[in-house]
Amino acid sequence: MTQRISGKTTICGIIGDPVEHTMSPAMHNAAFAETGLDWVYAAFHVKPDELKAAIEGMRALGIAGFNVTIPHKINVIPLLDRLDPPAEKIGAVNTVVNRGGVLTGYNTDASGFLRAMAERGIDPAGKNVVIIGAGGAARAVSFVLSESRANITIMNRASGMERVVTLAEAVAKSTGGNPGALELSEANLKQVLKKADILVNTTSVGMSPDCEQSPVPGEYLRPGLAVYDIVYNPVRTKLIRE
Ligand code: ATR
Repeated sequence: MTQRISGKTTICGIIGDPVEHTMSPAMHNAAFAETGLDWVYAAFHVKPDELKAAIEGMRALGIAGFNVTIPHKINVIPLLDRLDPPAEKIGAVNTVVNRGGVLTGYNTDASGFLRAMAERGIDPAGKNVVIIGAGGAARAVSFVLSESRANITIMNRASGMERVVTLAEAVAKSTGGNPGALELSEANLKQVLKKADILVNTTSVGMSPDCEQSPVPGEYLRPGLAVYDIVYNPVRTKLIRE
């Protein structure tokens, strides 16, 4: 693929911290090449204290749209002009579209997650699901699973207990479910995984270059447990391999 950038090329991209290992540019640029669109997709490394300036810059530069990843999915919301209703309900945004300077936030994590489960023939209704992490991605996954009538337990490390309690309360209020909120300790993991049908990692643990890390000790995994890792670089994380 030879991509020629001209004065007419439309620019979009992804913001995150870290962002250098993202596969999003490869995916989107391949799609642009395939469809013949004169568009280009770049990765922008945006630190949390630069988020506001970065969003204003997106608007000022007329960037057509961008994806949002760790750790900005929640904090980007007050900087946007509009929210698509599912994104508003979930309280996290992973996609922003710029229409004439009006920035609208969407959440495609939630619908994408359910689609991936359906493609593997997994129906979460009535299943016991353990979700690790309580950030933006966890919000999307928790809301859709609870709406799909799964019994969910959300776990976060000790320093983030307030986040996990707040998320469980928000999910309960919005979906009528009764999510559990637990500290991510080995003892708790061992206990909850005995009865779990599905395990979802929404943290960045195991992401390149820390490929030898896993959020869950391998000995707590057992046949029959479906495991979904939101980390896709590497595709086969240590958690998935185990
Ligand atoms: P995203 O918007 O992509 O979900 P995020 O909002 O920064 O990103 O959330 C990342 C999640 O991964 C959080 O639950 C975070 O825990 P804290 O709430 O305590 O910050 C979790 N996380 C990140 N690094 C982690 C690590 N090394 N061990 C355990 N959890 C981690």
